[in-house]
Amino acid sequence: MQMGTACVLLLWLQTLTFVKCQECTLQQFKESPDYDSNFNTTGLDDVYSAGKQVEVPCIPGYSGFFKLVCVEGNWQARGSKCQPTSCGHPGNARFADFHLENGDGFVLGSKVVYTCYRGFQMVSWTNYRHCAADGWDGVLPVCEVQKCALIHVNSNVEVIGDMTQATFGNVLRFTCKSSNEVLIGPSEIYCNENGEWSDVVPECTGITCETPEIEHGSVRDAPREYRENEILNFDCNSDYKRVDKRLPRCTKVGGKATWSPTPGCKVISCELELQTAGGTIHIPPNQNYFLPGSTLQVVCGQRYWIVDPQTTTAEVSCNSNGEWNIRPFCKEVICSDPQEYAVERFAAASWAGRKLGDTVPYSCRRGFDKPSSTTMAICTRAGWRPSPLCQS
Ligand SMILES: *[C@@H]1O[C@H](CO)[C@@H](O)[C@H](O)[C@H]1NC(C)=O
Repeated sequence: MQMGTACVLLLWLQTLTFVKCQECTLQQFKESPDYDSNFNTTGLDDVYSAGKQVEVPCIPGYSGFFKLVCVEGNWQARGSKCQPTSCGHPGNARFADFHLENGDGFVLGSKVVYTCYRGFQMVSWTNYRHCAADGWDGVLPVCEVQKCALIHVNSNVEVIGDMTQATFGNVLRFTCKSSNEVLIGPSEIYCNENGEWSDVVPECTGITCETPEIEHGSVRDAPREYRENEILNFDCNSDYKRVDKRLPRCTKVGGKATWSPTPGCKVISCELELQTAGGTIHIPPNQNYFLPGSTLQVVCGQRYWIVDPQTTTAEVSCNSNGEWNIRPFCKEVICSDPQEYAVERFAAASWAGRKLGDTVPYSCRRGFDKPSSTTMAICTRAGWRPSPLCQS
C-alpha cells in the first residue's frame, strides 16, 4: 500500500516512462525468451506491481515450477519451465511386444503400438495407446494364440496328435491303418502362425504308381497308373544308359508307393573302380569321367598283371556301351595247384594261393624225377618252374 501510494505520487511528479518501469506486464513476459506455449497464462493479470511474485502454471500434460518476480519493471525468472509430464510405462500385454511409434519417451502425445507374438492374433479393437494429459488412453490390447480349424480324415487314416484343439505349432501325423495302403499327401502337417494347416489332409489308397518323367529317357507304355509290383519299362536316349541295371518296380517304400530302384538315365561313360595297391592308372589331368573312346594307361606293380600274367602295362579304352575293353585293374600273380600227374600229392605242402617268387618243396611219384639241380618249385609269371616239375 505504501509502495502504491509512492508510485501514484511519482506518476504526477516524474515522467510516464519512469513510472512504467516499476511495474511488470504480462505482455512483457509473453515477449520474453522465457515464454513458450506450454505455459497457461489465462489466469494471470495484465499488470503486476514491483516486487510481485507470480507462479505461472502449465497447460495440461506439462509440469514445471516456474516463478516470475517483478524487479524494477522487469521480470526475473526462477525455477524450471513446463516439461511434458510422463505417462509412465504403458503396460505389458500378454503374448505381445510394443514399440514407441511417435514421441520421445512416454510423454504427452506419444503413441505405443502393440504387436502380438508370432502365432498370436489381436482380439481387441485397437493395437495402440496414446499418452494423454490424464495418462494412457484405452486399455491393454489382448492377444490370443492362433487356432486351426477342425479337420476331417477318412476312416482308413490313422491320426497321431490332437485334431480337436489344435493351436499354433501343433503337429498332426498320419499313417494308414492298413499295411496294403499308402498315404497320398503329407505324412505330417502343423498349425501355422496364421491359424492355417500347413498342408492338405492326406488320404490312404491302394499301392499304385504314376508314369514318371525320366530325364534323357522315355517310358514305353502310354501314361497310366501301375499296380503294386508292376514293372516300368523305359529306354534311355542315345549316349545315355539306365542308372540301375534292374528295371523299376512299383513298391511301397517308407509308407509311400514309389518306383524302386528310381528310374533314371545317365550319360554313358566308363567308371573306374577303386584301385588297390596293384598298380597305377595314368589319368589325364582334370578328367573325372570317361566317355566312350577315351583311353587310359594302366601300369601294374612288380607282383601284378593285367590282360595276362606276363603283361604289366596296358592301354584300356572305353567302349560305346560304357564298359572298358580291358578291365583297368591289376591282379596279383598267383600260382595254383599244378595239374601234373607226376607230382607226388601226399607229401606236398600247400600249392594253392602261392604268390610270385614263393617256393614249395615237393617230390615226384615213383618213376619220375625232378630235373637235375632242382630242390624246390618256384612260382613265376608263367606258372610253376621248373616245367615240367617231374620228368620220367
Ligand atoms: C488455463 O488455466 C485456466 C485456469 O486458470 C483454465 O480454466 C484453463 O482451462 C486453462 N487452459 C488450458 C489451455 O489449459
